[in-house]
Amino acid sequence: MTADNDVPPIVEMRGITIRFPGVLALDGVDFTLRPGEVHSLMGENGAGKSTLIKALTGVYSIDSGTIVVGGERRAFATAADAQEAGISTVYQEVNLCENLTVGENVMLGHEPRVGGVIDWRATHEAATHHLDSLGLRIDPRSRLSSHSIAIQQLVAISRAMVLESKVLVLDEPTSSLDRGEVERLFDVIRGLRDKGVAILFVSHFLEQVYEISDRITVLRNGALVGEHPIAELPRDALVTKMIGRELDDLATLSSSAHRDIDRTGTPVVKASGLGKRGILEPADLEVYPGEVVGLAGLLGSGRTELVRLLYGADRADEGSMEIHGQHAKVHSPRHAIDHRIAFSSENRREEGLVPDLTVAENIVLGMQARQGWVRRLGKAESDAVVHGWIEALGVRPANPHALVGNLSGGNQQKVLLARWLATAPELLVLDEPTRGIDVGAKADIQRKVSELSADGLAVVFISSELEEVLRLAQRIAVMRDRRKIGELESADVDIDGLIDYIANEGEGSAA
Ligand SMILES: Nc1ncnc2c1ncn2[C@@H]1O[C@H](COP(=O)(O)OP(=O)(O)OP(=O)(O)O)[C@@H](O)[C@H]1O
Ligand SMILES: [Mg+2]
Repeated sequence: MTADNDVPPIVEMRGITIRFPGVLALDGVDFTLRPGEVHSLMGENGAGKSTLIKALTGVYSIDSGTIVVGGERRAFATAADAQEAGISTVYQEVNLCENLTVGENVMLGHEPRVGGVIDWRATHEAATHHLDSLGLRIDPRSRLSSHSIAIQQLVAISRAMVLESKVLVLDEPTSSLDRGEVERLFDVIRGLRDKGVAILFVSHFLEQVYEISDRITVLRNGALVGEHPIAELPRDALVTKMIGRELDDLATLSSSAHRDIDRTGTPVVKASGLGKRGILEPADLEVYPGEVVGLAGLLGSGRTELVRLLYGADRADEGSMEIHGQHAKVHSPRHAIDHRIAFSSENRREEGLVPDLTVAENIVLGMQARQGWVRRLGKAESDAVVHGWIEALGVRPANPHALVGNLSGGNQQKVLLARWLATAPELLVLDEPTRGIDVGAKADIQRKVSELSADGLAVVFISSELEEVLRLAQRIAVMRDRRKIGELESADVDIDGLIDYIANEGEGSAA
């Protein structure tokens, strides 16, 4: 732990207040960041974490309060101004230029020049050097958009290094990374911290927060709850401070994974040799009524690719599907909806949450698509459904008329889930449904999925959090290198066994 209280802070925010129509997003919050520390900002979805970051980085202007950076009172008008002053931000949704090359993104505005002209060769060499120092061996001439989100985030950090940032802000950078990638990112973060960079970190993964942080600041409902050195804040105390009550016992959920499933009848869905050249080797998958099948594997292992074939987002060129024993063509999401298959994708922006529509309108979209647009849903009918799901998933603010674009990240995720649940599906495909969702809400969503499956819903569930897969799924299909390598009964395996299976099964005498 390198942070100590004698070092003068690099960032001091005092009494920060930000009001949006109808919401006091920040209520006189104090926050102090010191050089050489990793400081995590924790709180439920909607607590104000991203808003505090945006206040610091010039994205939002503050209604009152003061911001001091490096001993000087500042009010950045734009994110570029903040960056100029040494504050770099990496968001979950990467804020780089997708259509430029990796090297151009790293060096943008700092390209080596000869006689005023950019020296591209030197630019790419310099980029390679920076990428190398993060252990990232990729071609700087490759297009940024050709890389995974994980790589793009590391590229964004390389860029922060080029700018010699004194403050690095990471708002949920790990939510789409697998274990290995998180380790790599953490090595980079520790290296920067040891060089005196101040790091502000936000994540809903408690294990990660405890692994990397020196200090934690907790927000609740826009207000500061407290600032604590990590050693003085045990996990249960943190969770209690975040949600203002003790977390219900997650252990009661384990019954879902151990429930007996009757697999003698007809499966809701049966995929036989479903595959797509270059994308996924032919795979079989059956899901019975009331069953939760988890898909486990590393990022890029083919989990998402398999479920995209199931719900018709991509078209299989091999194999076939049966739904309730009947041959079925699911060649588009439209077909999936007709067959009562609902899906929540890992990418909420791509998958059509409409930011300019309200919470209610976004939820009703799915039902409306099922009904067909000809018969409009009755208002009373849709109001009842919308209220029911806002309540069940704890969407905050619990206001059906709020614009989705103004909701916090985690609450947008809940709205997306509500949309699909509202269609009363028979098969529900969930790709990382609890990504970006706080611990309390995560438990609520797990409980809901467990309840619905107990009532007969068939579920395919992808999560990078293996604990969550083991808690919810009765059966786990394991993927590696775009191939299904096997299936396990949850009852027969623990977390270490599952990790080992994912890494080593079928690799011969792998160590
Ligand atoms: N541009 C905006 N207009 C209106 N309300 C907003 C806007 N931005 C944020 N809010 C509201 O401010 C509050 C804080 O949101 P914020 O995004 O900071 O939460 P968060 O702590 O980052 O949550 P999450 O963990 O879900 O990302 C929420 O009630 C949100 O709906
Ligand atoms: Mg946020």
